[in-house]
Amino acid sequence: MTSTPRTAREVHIVRRPAGPLSAADFAVAETALPDLAPGEFLIANRLLSIDPVRRVFFANGTAPLNAGLHSFSIGEVVESRHPGYAPGELVGHYQGLRDFAVGRGDETRKITAGGDPLEWHMGPLGVGGFFAYVGLIEVARARPGESVLVSSAAGSVGSLAVQLARLIGCRTVATVGSADKQAWLTDVAGVETVIDYKQADWRERLAAALPDGLDVYFDNVGGAQLDAALSLINPQGRVAVCGMVSAYDSATPFSERAGAWTWRMMTSQVELKSYHVRDHQHLWPAFQRSVGDWLRNGAIQTETQVRDGLDAIPQAFVDLIAGRSLGKTVVRL
Ligand SMILES: NC(=O)c1ccc[n+]([C@@H]2O[C@H](COP(=O)([O-])OP(=O)(O)OC[C@H]3O[C@@H](n4cnc5c(N)ncnc54)[C@H](OP(=O)(O)O)[C@@H]3O)[C@@H](O)[C@H]2O)c1
Repeated sequence: MTSTPRTAREVHIVRRPAGPLSAADFAVAETALPDLAPGEFLIANRLLSIDPVRRVFFANGTAPLNAGLHSFSIGEVVESRHPGYAPGELVGHYQGLRDFAVGRGDETRKITAGGDPLEWHMGPLGVGGFFAYVGLIEVARARPGESVLVSSAAGSVGSLAVQLARLIGCRTVATVGSADKQAWLTDVAGVETVIDYKQADWRERLAAALPDGLDVYFDNVGGAQLDAALSLINPQGRVAVCGMVSAYDSATPFSERAGAWTWRMMTSQVELKSYHVRDHQHLWPAFQRSVGDWLRNGAIQTETQVRDGLDAIPQAFVDLIAGRSLGKTVVRL
């Protein structure tokens, strides 16, 4: 019988990354493993998930310095004081980035790999895969015949999202940052059009690949690609904001980075939805009644900037845009 380890090795960050992530930001440390309490079991981790979003947590303080870092992991139970978990069983849990972990039933889920490669449960059958599935099918509601763009399409999430789109019967367009990824998506994953966003003319190529516009954008990267996708989006188009990896590895404080709002949307499940009042005409009588009453009884205050004559129009515009007007600006003739 092999003896149970008394220590574990775990990965720490030892300083907050400033600028591109560096190996010197990390250290591997040895830590004592506690004796198992009733209801606990020891897991020998087999696969640890490396996710780009951790870069954000390393910098913003969510991940503690000089302490074990968490990440999704799949491991094998090697010793157990839990009646529901027997040695030899595979479990998924979030105490990754270490070789051994102590599990408790409520923080783990059993993995039944069957004859499937275990790696599938880290990728397309794992958490990232589920993000791809939910984002494309439930959030973006991709339908047959629609055009779907997926960024970082050779990554864990993107590679599933773009292939799900193909299987649904969508026209698939993908972006990646290298020729080998481009070749994999075209030759192996069967994606119709793949664009390397590091080529100078990628925006033109993207527009050319979407002559009828874009119906669904599955966004993994935010930033310039999100801007480009939104400039091509069709009426009633949908964007599933899954991530913004283009902004993760930066020295600029997160809140000051271009497109930082995408992070807030993503983490707070915010809906960004455009609208036009022509689709809501049934509300007009109620609007007139309510707001009219509130204006008349003083519950709502209003201001009007009145300018006289056509010649006042240019300055009226200038002042309005420069912020020198309060309320509604009108020109009286
Ligand atoms: N994995 C998860 O469980 C999970 C869960 C929720 C959300 N997400 C989000 O989903 C997105 C994809 O996650 P993933 O795990 O599959 O990782 P991923 O897409 O494999 O992320 C790494 C890739 O991002 C691309 N990238 C790096 N810098 C970039 C930049 N400046 N502009 C554009 N692309 C850049 C690179 O691919 P190129 O060579 O193509 O540039 C790189 O290989 C991330 O935003 C992540 O935060 C992931």
